[in-house]
Amino acid sequence: MPKPILKFAVLAGDYIGPEVMAEALRVLDHVARLEGLVLSHQAADVGGAGIDRHGQALPESTLRVCEQADAILFGSVGGPKWEKLPPKEQPERAALLPLRRHFTLFANIRPGLLYRELTDASPLKSERIPDGIDIVCIRELTGGLYFGKPKETTTLPDGDVQAVDTMVYKKSEIERILQVAITTARARKRKLCSVDKANVLETSVLWRKTVTDYCAAHAPDLALSHMYVDNAAMQLARDPNQFDVFVTENMFGDILSDEMAVICGSLGMLSSASLGAGKNSLGLPFGLYEPAGGTAPDIAGKGIANPCAQILSVALMLRHSFGLETTATRLEAAVKKAVTSGTRTGDIAFGRPSVGTRAMADAVIANL
Ligand code: IPM
Ligand code: MG
Repeated sequence: MPKPILKFAVLAGDYIGPEVMAEALRVLDHVARLEGLVLSHQAADVGGAGIDRHGQALPESTLRVCEQADAILFGSVGGPKWEKLPPKEQPERAALLPLRRHFTLFANIRPGLLYRELTDASPLKSERIPDGIDIVCIRELTGGLYFGKPKETTTLPDGDVQAVDTMVYKKSEIERILQVAITTARARKRKLCSVDKANVLETSVLWRKTVTDYCAAHAPDLALSHMYVDNAAMQLARDPNQFDVFVTENMFGDILSDEMAVICGSLGMLSSASLGAGKNSLGLPFGLYEPAGGTAPDIAGKGIANPCAQILSVALMLRHSFGLETTATRLEAAVKKAVTSGTRTGDIAFGRPSVGTRAMADAVIANL
């Protein structure tokens, strides 16, 4: 068997982004050596680093690097240094949204995972989550309010000012995200909850009908349920494990995935995948893989950030864009073993002794 070449772009970004990225790449190097995988990655500037060096959060040159790769490993972008910029130029928005649009990254997969050993990290009472949390949010990422047209602010004849965002969905877009949700649910407990606001929104009425019809025809093996988004927000806080996989539109998914992140305790443990509509040179989905946590400017430069989310994002990249399920699982197991056997960065230490970014990565490597 020829050794697969893993060709990916590395967009580390700002503050702790490069710190955790360096450790994730070191872990990946180690796995690659163990398994005979060949790495070919190229770094490029993004976010604040892009603004500072090229005058743009997503420089053309960075986009070219991404286009030549089979996947993007993303760090995180933004921070106080660029907060004074107008909203449209903020690193988060000006880097992520164009990347999503350019590569049609329509499927955002966010695992909500909290190991049983870390239930203390959750703001939920431990008796509500005796075994931790293990759910997945599938968020549609290129439609709805984020990209719908018209999207504008106008001054009305009477001098008042009006702003419009448009929530729009096509049946084909709903079916496309649903297919990802079905695949995800089939690899787990075959339980899928579709979240909408069909009691109020036209797009949600189409969403619910499309999900119902499509699942009846193509996924009768799944236990399908529907829930209004306001109730879903409540149920997540009450009993998160009643969900296994839930699928929802862009804006609802943005909000619910943050709620899911907070009940899962540490942002330093959460990864995400954004899969594209296009295939990479291996015939697998092109995707962008990033930790959920952000740039954490308050701890940047101290070498104490938790690299686990970035390492777990590497695992998602191996699984989805390179078809290396066994290697991905191996990496995930090593992170779990390192953390549950007691190696902890400050965010998940709860008063116990904690280690730094590098030592945390060393522990993962030792458990591979
Ligand atoms: C996320 C973020 C982005 C979003 C922002 C930074 C544009 O909140 O990935 O969830 O709203 O999608
Ligand atoms: Mg968000």
